[in-house]
Amino acid sequence: MTLSELTALLDEELARAKEQIDKVETASDLEEFERTFLGKRSAATAANQGIKDLAPDERPKAGQAVSGYKAAVNELIEARKAALGDGAGEVLDRLDLTLPGRGLGRGHLHLITQVQQELEEVFLGLGYEVAEGPEVETDFYNFEALNMPQAHPARSMWDTLYVKLGRPEEVVLRTHTSPVQIRVMESRQPPVYTVMPGRCYRRDTLDARHSPVFHQIEGLVVDEGITFGDLAGTIDAFTRAYFGPGHTSRLRPSYFPFTEPSAEFEVTCFVCDGAGCSVCSKTGWLELGGCGMVDPNVFRAVGYDSERYTGFAFGFGLERMAMVRYGVEHIKSFFENDIRFLKQF
Ligand code: DAH
Repeated sequence: MTLSELTALLDEELARAKEQIDKVETASDLEEFERTFLGKRSAATAANQGIKDLAPDERPKAGQAVSGYKAAVNELIEARKAALGDGAGEVLDRLDLTLPGRGLGRGHLHLITQVQQELEEVFLGLGYEVAEGPEVETDFYNFEALNMPQAHPARSMWDTLYVKLGRPEEVVLRTHTSPVQIRVMESRQPPVYTVMPGRCYRRDTLDARHSPVFHQIEGLVVDEGITFGDLAGTIDAFTRAYFGPGHTSRLRPSYFPFTEPSAEFEVTCFVCDGAGCSVCSKTGWLELGGCGMVDPNVFRAVGYDSERYTGFAFGFGLERMAMVRYGVEHIKSFFENDIRFLKQF
C-alpha cells in the first residue's frame, strides 16, 4: 500500500463512518460501530500495519493520517453518545431484566416481644385486661406499698439499681412488675383482672439465667370471694394454654411480702416431660415464678376494703418462659442481637 492509497482508504472509511453514525441508536450499536471503524479488522488497523512497509520519510505522514482518522471517528462516537443523551439507551440495553429482583429481607418481632404478646393473648382470652407502668419507679411503688416499709429485710430479695433523683434511694429502676399492681389498684375499684408485662432491672451479674435487664409479666385479680383455688386453677389454665395440654403446673410454699400465703409455681420440664433430667435437676419440674393471695396490707395501701375483697397475684420472667419453651440455654442470647439466633423464631 502506497502513502496515497493509505490516505485514500482512510478518507473513504471516514466518509462511510460519517454516513453510518446516524443509524446508531443504542449502546450496542455504538459498540458495533466502534468495532467496525476502529477495531482489529478496521481500515485503521490495516493502515497502521501498512506504515512499516512505507519509505521512512513517508511514515510520519502516514502515522498522522491514521491518528487523524482515529480522532475523527472517536469524535463521531462521543458526539453520538451525547446526542443519545443520559446513557438512557445504555441502561436499557445493559440491564438484564430476565433475573428476578433481589428480595429485601423482612424483619420480625423479637422473641421476647412475641412471647409477651402470646401471653397477653392467653390472658385476654381469660377475660383479663393489659396494663403498663413506668420502668423508673419510686420506692413507694416498688417496695413500700407492696408491704415492705423502709428497712424491711425482704427488700434484699431484690438487688436494686437506684437512680440519682430525689432523696437518696427514693427513685429506683423497678426490680419487678409488681409496682404496676399498685398503680392499677390506685386507678380503679374492683373487680380487677389485669396482666402487666414490662422490663425490669436488677443489680445482678450476668449468668445463664440472670441478666441485669429482663422482662416480667405480672397478674392481678381482685374481686369478691377469690380463693387460692382460683389462683391454682388460673395458673394451670394458663400453663396448658401456653405450653400445651401435656403440661401441668404445681405450687410450692414460698414467701413474698406482698402475698400471704405465697407460692412458687413450677411447670413440668419441657425436656423430659417430668421424668427428670439435667435441665430440671432431676426433679421433673421447672420453676417459673411467684404467686400468692394479695396481702391485706397491700389493699390497705391502695384504699381497698380488705374485708370485702380478696385477690391473687403472680409474676414471672418472660426470658425464663422463652428459655423453657424453646430450649434456650443462656439468657444473654436475648440481648446479644445475634441475627443467627433471632432468625430462628
Ligand atoms: N415480684 C416477684 C419477683 O419479682 C414475683 C411475684 C411473686 C409477683 C409473687 C407476684 C407475686 O405478683 O404474687 O420476684
